[in-house]
Amino acid sequence: MSIRPILIHPDPRLKKLCPPVAEITPEIGRLAEDMLETMYDAPGVGLAAPQVGVLARLFVMDCVKEEGESPRPMVLINPEIITTSEDTNTYEEGCLSIPEHYGEVTRPRRVTMRWLGLDGKTHEQEFDGLWATCAQHELDHLNGKLFIDHLGAIKRSMITRKMVKLKRERARG
Ligand code: NI
Repeated sequence: MSIRPILIHPDPRLKKLCPPVAEITPEIGRLAEDMLETMYDAPGVGLAAPQVGVLARLFVMDCVKEEGESPRPMVLINPEIITTSEDTNTYEEGCLSIPEHYGEVTRPRRVTMRWLGLDGKTHEQEFDGLWATCAQHELDHLNGKLFIDHLGAIKRSMITRKMVKLKRERARG
């Protein structure tokens, strides 16, 4: 396993519609393991393949945050939303591709998702609370959408300008 570099917004690879994973190969298995390691190291609760520069419909997440609770790493391949609840939830979201910036996003409180696991089987599960928010945030990534696209234009461009500056500083070293 290895930690992969996380792309920082703005980057054209974060704006792409990702194609489905055609087959679960050992390479996909390695990608998922690397993404989990990268996510835990960051640390974050979710990471989508385009964030490590791989344009494929796959994301990982683990929203267990309580100290002492065992981790629950999940790998979702070709995920789709089957149903969403009428009621909504507003969370202060962040993103590993937009470090140190947060914004309130309102999304359905519960979603049922269907996906392919690394075991090659179809899984279906209802997510609630932070898990539901995270799953929708990560699915957005696979469609080239970031949480700042849910914010107003002024806040979005302010954050983008700061990210451009951050990338320039990092490039200088
Ligand atoms: Ni994100």
